[in-house]
Order: sequence, then structure tokens, then C-alpha cells
Amino acid sequence: MEEKWWMRSVVYQIYPRSFCDSNQDGVGDLNGIRSKIPYLKKLGIDVIWLSPVYESPNADNGYDISNYYAISPEFGTMEEMKSLIRECRESGIRIVMDLVVNHTSDEHAWFLEAKKSEDSPYRDYYIWRKGEAGSPPNDLRACFGGSAWEYSEETGAHYLHLFGVKQPDLNWENDAVRKEIWNMMNYWIDLGIGGFRMDVIDLIGKVPDQGITGNGPMLHTYLQEMNRETFGTKDLLTVGECWGADPEKGRMYSDPARRELSMIFQFEQSMLDEQPGKEKWDLRPLQLRELKQVFTRWQTEMEGHGWNSLFWNNHDLPRIVSRWGDDGVYRVASAKMLATLLHGMKGTPYIYQGEEIGMTNMPFHSFTEFQDIESLNMIQERLEKGYLPEEIMKSLRAKSRDNARTPMQWNSGLQAGFTEGQPWCPVNPNYREINAARALRDQDSIFYYYQKLINLRKTEDILIYGSYELLLPEDENIYAYMRAWQGKKWLIVCNFYKEPVPFSYEGTGRTILSNYKENSRTIQNLNNRNLRPYEAAIYELEM
Ligand code: GLC
Ligand code: CA
Repeated sequence: MEEKWWMRSVVYQIYPRSFCDSNQDGVGDLNGIRSKIPYLKKLGIDVIWLSPVYESPNADNGYDISNYYAISPEFGTMEEMKSLIRECRESGIRIVMDLVVNHTSDEHAWFLEAKKSEDSPYRDYYIWRKGEAGSPPNDLRACFGGSAWEYSEETGAHYLHLFGVKQPDLNWENDAVRKEIWNMMNYWIDLGIGGFRMDVIDLIGKVPDQGITGNGPMLHTYLQEMNRETFGTKDLLTVGECWGADPEKGRMYSDPARRELSMIFQFEQSMLDEQPGKEKWDLRPLQLRELKQVFTRWQTEMEGHGWNSLFWNNHDLPRIVSRWGDDGVYRVASAKMLATLLHGMKGTPYIYQGEEIGMTNMPFHSFTEFQDIESLNMIQERLEKGYLPEEIMKSLRAKSRDNARTPMQWNSGLQAGFTEGQPWCPVNPNYREINAARALRDQDSIFYYYQKLINLRKTEDILIYGSYELLLPEDENIYAYMRAWQGKKWLIVCNFYKEPVPFSYEGTGRTILSNYKENSRTIQNLNNRNLRPYEAAIYELEM
């Protein structure tokens, strides 16, 4: 595949509300982000994916947009947005905007007009159906619980919302809707952004009357049209959020010959710790072998036909060190192990704010501490169904999106340096131990380990181009794989757990990076070794 700038890039996701508050109103903002450019520069990232900063009533923290051309006043102004884009560019960082176009807010001008009358020119911007005797047209469910159809009194019809009731789905079959979206995307492209992260983009081809939501028949036609009408001739990073993708679908999106997207986010690994066919709240332990199978399928089946994204975290997922690492004694070692495992693979890595300092899940104690619409709906639904409060709490602690949304921990001062005001959401009480200032003072911190991984990607072609081969597929404790490129071989080996485990590889190698200090750049015999708790290393094999 032709090399693109985003193949060598590392993306840093910012959830603006929780990143840095510049004016002490308790909500993170654009000027807060601007003040942290030197920090991001130091980490070495090339791209920021900015979660939505558009005008929004915040039913889903900005994933419900009421005006695509305006910045939400709580985040700042369009002038500040332009300054952020410019200042980042000057530091070699591009900004990828969140594109939320499966739905708008019900407070978007289009919807306000559409719901008034069946004759409104905006009526067909959304999806309306009349059900028998006022009941929903069918039993489609919304991702945040309940029916996907909401009754609207003005016209006695239901509109479709695959997420919250305040997030009506746009009607992509309508040419006028697609034109509006292309215009809006071009507006942002002209402002000099580096690309788009496309929210739940695999839903845009839906056929609600047949119960089809994800991967609908027109999905790829629309994406090809989008590519032609907007970014196709521009050198941008485009990444689609696709919960329902397997590698075959992944190739359809990202094979350059098809002219759709640069890459997608797929979530097969993310569903491994839930009971198959059930909800994310229905927990089961992760099996390392399954994780290896999923990653390996994506690594090998995309080879030459598309491009992977690599991520553990985002604003919708629990913190990885709490989820599959150890957020207690081995927090630092396990965070570095997880980073090694992911960043050693082929694809574009994404880091979610706070991951680089090993931020953990929040120790929630009561239902009143949750703010996310998904959590709140789930609590209500499961209480009504008779689940025990303890069971519900266990699921929320493990999986709620609130975990990832606590304020970024900058220092050990009041409110972790996130704000001098009252934060919109409580700071994790572990901020005195886990914070960026402390990480920056400690040469062995998770922060500097990420910095090294990012640097390697800048200088080592093997990370970009090298083939991937899984070793020890049946091993239940070790994740080991080989990258190979132009006569060079890198062995990446990770002990996924805290028990020491024997590992053996016939050969010798030089340590490129390891989370245990003792390993130096000298030649090591890789035969008959013992991997310490969460030990991870990258070795260049002697050939
Ligand atoms: C995506 C976003 C999530 C949002 C949902 C609806 O999954 O990442 O935060 O709630 O889409 O827009
Ligand atoms: Ca603020």
C-alpha cells in the first residue's frame, strides 16, 4: 500500500469537557486544550481527535449536535477553534473533528422545522412513520434502551432515534440531507482540519422498516459519494466508528481502491468480556486466547487490503488498565505491557487522554454518581426488570462510560489541576498518585514509555510495514508475535498477567524496549526465560 502520513502517526483523543478548563467554570474548553499543546508535543503525538465541540444541548455530551457550524459556548468560540487549528498545525499536530451525522439533536433547526408539519421542507430530513393506533411502527430498540421510535404530538407520527430520544436519526436516503452534510464537511475541511472521525457511521445505510440498522445496503455507496464530494482529493485521515465490522467489512471501508475511508474503529476485542448475544453489562472474564484470535485476524486479513486502527480506550470504554491490566500494585507495569502489545502491531495507534499516565476507572459507590445517559437509562431499565442494585453497580463499575470521562489528572493540586472551579464531574480520588506532573518528573513513568513507543514509530519502518505473525496461539498467559520487514525481525512478547511464566524462543536478540529496567540494549539469550509480572519487551532478533 502507498504510504500515507497517517500510517506513521499516533492519534491522541481529547474529550474536551474533561481535558482542561481555562476559565474555571468546571468544564474543559478549547483554550484549555491550547494551553496543553506543549504537553502533547512532548508526548510526540501527531494528531488530535477532538470529541464534539459543536453547539449542543448535551443530552449525550455533544454527540447530539444542534448546529454543525457553531462551537458550543461552554467550549469557546469559532475564533478560538481557528486558533487551536492554527497553533496545532504550527506544532505539527493535525486536528481530526468528530463527525456526528447519523443523527442530530432534536434542537437542531432542521428537526425543529421538521416536527412542526408534514409539509415542512425539512420533514424528510428525518425518518417518520405512523404506527397503528399511535403505537411504534415496529419493535426496533434504541442503543440507549427503550423503543427506537418516539411519538411526536404535532403530527401524530413517530420519528426514529437509534440513540437517545433527543437524537433523531437523519434520513440519508434524502439527497438534500447528504448535500447538507457534504457542504458542512467541506466547510470544516476548508478551515484546515486534518480529517474526520465518523460517529457510528455504519448505521447510515439503515432500512428501519426491515429492522436493518448496521451495515445497510446503501452504506458503502454513501461513503463513496462522501469521499468524492468532500475529502477524496485531500490528504486527510478518515476513521469510521463501526461496531458491527469484521475484517471483511474492514477491507470494504479501508481498501484504498474502493475510495472510502482511511481506516475504521472495530470493536470485536471490546466485546470479548461480555456474554455473547447479550449486552455490554453482562460481564464475563476475558480469555487471552480469544483476544489473540481477534487481533490476529484483523492484523493478517487487512494486510495489503486496508489499514487498522489500534486502540484500547476511548470515551465510551472503561479504562484499559482497570479492565485488562491491574490498577493496583502492577498498574505501571501492566499499563506499559498493554501499550507495548498494541503499539507493536500494524496500524495507527490511538491514545485516549489519561491513558498515557495510566488513569484508572472511577471507584463509584452510588447510582447518583453516574451522569451518562447510557448508564442512567440502564439503571432504570434494570431496576424495573428486577436486577439487584449490587449486580447493576458491578456492571457499571466495570463498563460504564462515566469511567473514562472523569477529569484529566494534571497535578496533585486541588481538582487535579483540571479546574480551579467546581468540575462538571468529580475527579478520581487517586489523582495525588496518578497525575501528569508526577509522570513528567519520573523517567520510568508510563508517559515516557508511550513517548518511546511513539518515537519508535517515527524511525522504524518495521512497525509501519512489517508483517505480523502470532506465536504461541494456544498459550493462555503470553501474547507473543513477530514483525518482519526487509530482513529484520522484531519479537514482541507480553506476559498478560501477574503470575510469572516461562517463555522460550530459540535465539538471541537485542532489547528495543521493555517495561523492566534490568533489560538493556545488550544481546539476550531468549531461551528458557521467566517473564515477570506483566513483563513486556520488544526484541530485535539476531539473524
Ligand atoms: C458513538 C459515540 C458515543 C455516542 C454515540 C451516539 O458511539 O462514540 O459517545 O453516544 O455514538 O452518537
Ligand atoms: Ca471552561
